[in-house]
Amino acid sequence: MTQTTPTNIIVWDWPTRLFHWLLVATFGIAFATSGDDPLLRVHLWSGFLFFGLIVFRIVWGFIGTRYARFSDFVASPAHVIAHIIGVLHRRPQRFLGHNPAGGWAILLLLGLGFLLALFGFLVLGGQEGYGLFAGLLTFAQGHQAMEIHEAICFSMLALIGIHWAGVIVESFLHRENLVAAMFHGRKRVENVAPSPNSVPTHAKLAIVIALGALVTPTVFLLSMDSKPLWANNPGLKITHTWEVACGECHLPFSPSLLPSRSWEALLAGEEDHFGDILALKPETKEALRQSFTGHSAEDEPTEAAYQINHSVQKNQTPQRISDTPYWRKKHRNIDVETWKNKDMGKARCDGCHADAKEGIFDDRAITWHAPFNAQSKQSPENGR
Ligand code: HEC
Ligand code: HEC
Repeated sequence: MTQTTPTNIIVWDWPTRLFHWLLVATFGIAFATSGDDPLLRVHLWSGFLFFGLIVFRIVWGFIGTRYARFSDFVASPAHVIAHIIGVLHRRPQRFLGHNPAGGWAILLLLGLGFLLALFGFLVLGGQEGYGLFAGLLTFAQGHQAMEIHEAICFSMLALIGIHWAGVIVESFLHRENLVAAMFHGRKRVENVAPSPNSVPTHAKLAIVIALGALVTPTVFLLSMDSKPLWANNPGLKITHTWEVACGECHLPFSPSLLPSRSWEALLAGEEDHFGDILALKPETKEALRQSFTGHSAEDEPTEAAYQINHSVQKNQTPQRISDTPYWRKKHRNIDVETWKNKDMGKARCDGCHADAKEGIFDDRAITWHAPFNAQSKQSPENGR
């Protein structure tokens, strides 16, 4: 039996309590580490655990103990209104489990939490090329998912505020510490005749579900890391004509690295291509035009394409990738000596990016990093 004293019974079973505080912890950690690249890993770990917990709680809402079930606390709107009126008159009806208003807050929090995690997965796939949705979404779609992910997060924060207000008000009106009850699980019984709360029968099941819910995402995350995903990425296609005509003197830059008007301008100016004459035949020009049509910065799904295209003003036509604001921002810490080095000139993208030829430019494929001291005159190639 779970009845500890004649007047105190366990209302919140231990899986529900554990879930509650782990959810608080994972949400807090994920919130604190959001938007910070070096801490992305921590954000992901807490996000995956958060997702596992939400899944567990939804299952537990159907098979858990009495007060943990949705059927116990999801009430009709009429009950919710009656309860709120009761609170306003300082005479709310007392419920052993969640009151009708609180029940809806829980349901909404779970629903939003589920969506929060779901959109997190979409951001991960679209913006970082990781996880379940890798390769299925463009960077731009990942970016939109990010905005929704953030909006859901802030809705949850607002709802958490309401949840706290409810807990404080009810604790005060019923003279009982509801926060403490979420730790020890017990609440006093007044005139309600409680049916026994059968925790032990479900305990084993709870352990299985909790383990599954926590371990599965963890394993998933670990397996994701076992191989760099960019290495499997087939990359963006370039045509044979492009490779031959534009790969003779330098890397055949992926058409995704400049807007189509820039490629148009480079073709138009081929008689003076940075001091060289390209002398392209008209049919080659036409074939090159077809190579970049639909594959330039406006069109390709990678982050590099998206960021380059969005950094260039619409009335500007840069002829160098290395002149685009995004490129300059990303390479501002690299010193002059490095660029002078014949293997590391600005146009030698492949000198520092293992996936340059494929046009991906994943941050995990960068093979060279600026020294911590930006003033340092030491070239990374000195030792060669
Ligand atoms: C005859 C040699 C040659 C050929 C062929 C050639 N280029 Fe170039 N390209 C150059 C030189 C030289 C530069 C300047 C490199 C530098 O300043 O570091 C350059 C620079 C560029 C840049 C600017 C790189 C930057 O700094 O961001 C782009 C873009 C470019 N070329 C595109 C093309 C395209 C497209 C083709 C094919 C139509 C092509 N190139 C063919 C010689 C060539
Ligand atoms: C001397 C080495 C070097 C060369 C050459 C170089 N890069 Fe980079 N690039 C870097 C480093 C280092 C970073 C990471 C900067 C950061 O994150 O602060 C970077 C970042 C980037 C990024 C952003 C990647 C991301 O997701 O953070 C893109 C896109 C990129 N480079 C494109 C290019 C292109 C295109 C070229 C050739 C025109 C090029 N780079 C040449 C070193 C280089």
